Amino acid sequence: MLNNLLRASASKRAFSTARILSKDVNHLTVIGGGQMGLGIALVAANKAGVKVSLVDNSEASLEKDKLLAKDVGKGRLTEEQSKDIASRIVPTTDLSAAVKNTDMVIEAVPEIPSLKIQIFAQLAAEAPKDAILATNTSSISITQIAAAARGAEDRVIAAHFMNPVPVQKGVEIIEALQTSKDTLDSTLAFVARMGKVKSVSRDSPGFIANRILLPYINEAITVLETGIGSKEDIDSMLVNGCAMPMGPLALADFIGLDTCLAIMKVLYNDTGDSKYRPSVLLQKYVDAGWLGKKSGKGFYDYSK
Ligand code: NAI
Repeated sequence: MLNNLLRASASKRAFSTARILSKDVNHLTVIGGGQMGLGIALVAANKAGVKVSLVDNSEASLEKDKLLAKDVGKGRLTEEQSKDIASRIVPTTDLSAAVKNTDMVIEAVPEIPSLKIQIFAQLAAEAPKDAILATNTSSISITQIAAAARGAEDRVIAAHFMNPVPVQKGVEIIEALQTSKDTLDSTLAFVARMGKVKSVSRDSPGFIANRILLPYINEAITVLETGIGSKEDIDSMLVNGCAMPMGPLALADFIGLDTCLAIMKVLYNDTGDSKYRPSVLLQKYVDAGWLGKKSGKGFYDYSK
């Protein structure tokens, strides 16, 4: 309701780009080839059958074959399917060239507001004037990101996929105040092609998923920090006593402790509410470079 009113008033403002019509996506560009970006690229190439340009500023992150090999190993894909998917994904470090002829962008770089703002300013200048510009942010204001995309504000939206993307069905769709109805419709149609089940959230810190999930994880870290229980006892209680599929500390390691901290900081700063204060222990782990599974050490050891 509120979004409809805001959209009606926003549409009275003259955006410098033409209003896009709902469109089919044939070429997707994913920016950031980490755990989320790689997963989005694989599912888009596999389920939606689109061509994907996968952009990362680190060559090492573009080894998409590793994840495909893992899926082959787990029996999720045949060797032939894996080859077919790989043929549709083009890894590159050249963002400007990748977005030149793209229909849609999904940005999945680290959860750093200034980085996302810089990328959306560049996308507004370099992507086609009817491309959908989506972010996979976990918590940052979509309205703020859209404001950085000068002249393309109405084409910015969030498609917040869940980790791991090939496994989790849910995706959160969040409109900025500036998002047009056509951008929303095209995005909903595309995530449906990817086989995802959408939940629509208002643009509010943490949206639905992380407004609920991250304070829970942060509290588990505070319980560890204050010595109420060991990491094993905390995780075991939540798995065996509360029917959670995974303990909160193992889940934090899986998400990435840097990402967890960044989300808590957005919740804390954007609401000004002390109940979202990040745990001191979480900050210390990130300072130590113990980021969880991706760095080989977090609350648990993944070096083997
Ligand atoms: P990650 O750390 O695994 O990957 C980020 C990737 O971005 C890295 O490969 C890095 O080399 C690349 N990168 C950094 N700067 C770049 C630039 N300027 N241009 C191109 N690539 C660049 O992070 P992850 O976990 O994939 O998260 C990415 C985004 O997805 C974040 O906004 C995060 O909040 C969100 N997200 C994360 C989830 C999780 O469980 N980890 C779940 C849902 C959303």
